Amino acid sequence: MEKIVVESSRPLYGNIEISGAKNAAIPIIFASLITQQTCIIENLPNISDVRLSLEILESLGCKVRMLSKSSVEIDTHAAIQGACPYDLARRMRGSYYLVGAELARYGKASVSFPGGCDFGVRPIDQHIKGFEALGANTVIENGNIESFAPEGLRGTHLYFDNVTVGGTINVMFAAVKAEGLTVIENAAREPHIVDVANFLNSCGANISGAGTNIIKIKGVGELHGTSYAIIPDMIEAGTYMCAAAAAGGALKITNVIPKHLESISAKLEEMGVSVTTLDDAVIISRTGELSPVKIKTLPYPGFPTDMNPQFSVLLCLANGVSTMTEGIYDNRFRYVDELRRMGANISVDGKCATFTGGTELSGAPVRAVDLRAGAAMIIAALAINGRTEIENIQYIERGYEDIVGKLAAVGADIKRVTVSDGMKSETVG
Ligand code: EPU
Repeated sequence: MEKIVVESSRPLYGNIEISGAKNAAIPIIFASLITQQTCIIENLPNISDVRLSLEILESLGCKVRMLSKSSVEIDTHAAIQGACPYDLARRMRGSYYLVGAELARYGKASVSFPGGCDFGVRPIDQHIKGFEALGANTVIENGNIESFAPEGLRGTHLYFDNVTVGGTINVMFAAVKAEGLTVIENAAREPHIVDVANFLNSCGANISGAGTNIIKIKGVGELHGTSYAIIPDMIEAGTYMCAAAAAGGALKITNVIPKHLESISAKLEEMGVSVTTLDDAVIISRTGELSPVKIKTLPYPGFPTDMNPQFSVLLCLANGVSTMTEGIYDNRFRYVDELRRMGANISVDGKCATFTGGTELSGAPVRAVDLRAGAAMIIAALAINGRTEIENIQYIERGYEDIVGKLAAVGADIKRVTVSDGMKSETVG
């Protein structure tokens, strides 16, 4: 079994470079399928969800060749529709992007129902509403999403009932070659939506308005191959910003787009953390105590749900009463029990957690219950004078490139260990 072990709190000093954005990389990898040509994708994060997405394309017959640690060439000429094995698709949420991509390429799609982190119910009704509006009959049958446009895909005017990142991107995929104009209202505005639209436009698509809540897609005949670099990961950056706020010291976080970090920077400043913004970097330092705050997660440009667990650790450390209200998911507080094992005083009432902070946390064996919850366990461990062992780290490795190496390089007392039969047998950096 693999674990991450943090021995003791140390202030963090130095630079951390941010990798490409997971939630842009995954859809862009699947979007390459629409082109029927060869795409080169750069600034890819080296994480297991990206490797799995590439494996899925290989299972469909695409040729995938790594050009460097962070760039890949995907030749999609020989892809076969509907061939993705259940075992691969169910291991990640983003596999649902195959539905939009296959619809655009073949006019039909067959993909296993997706997996992903457990935050309560995660329906895909809005994706299906979009596919249907474009003329594709879509059903969930025998664990598969089956979609077929008997008369081809036609442009449509669609209003999402709620803001959905995956739904916005998937409908954008299906609409990109549909006949005529598609208008998506109440679209998600996350930076990764803009990045996916930019990628598709670089392949010859005609998409405007990405980044606003109305996206217009004029169908085009064919897409061509491209070479494209993915934006930096705002959530990875936010995670290290929280790490510096929890452990103290001064961290320069490079290769970021500071505009994407505004809601995160604003909350840190409200808590008494110093944030200096440069052109493509932020410097985070904390010397004094953290102040309590109220946070509510919302779709972008609101405070991101994917920063809920990491900030909750800071709320445990802040001197006084803070609240975290979850505005996106039904059940994003499964990590609270793990923080309680470290001595945190948290009560949860539905979608709102109240933190009575300021008492010292203590090291404990804990689990990563999902990706961001796992990152939160590391952040808590970095603030604790004592040993913390974190299990289930495969969740963390789905979305963070070399989190142990990056933190160790700025002074954290952290390592990844392999434990067999109750004994530590090997350390891996
Ligand atoms: N929703 C519906 N119907 C739908 C789609 C979504 O009701 O058809 C609801 C969801 O249940 C949820 C809300 O709408 O309550 C937002 O869901 P959204 O579709 O935006 O989420 P997603 O596309 O499934 C992506 C990221 C998540 C991130 C969310 C929100 C990927 C692969 N996943 O999920 O990332 O939390 O957007 O920003 O892009 C993570 O990176 O740790 C992660 C979980």
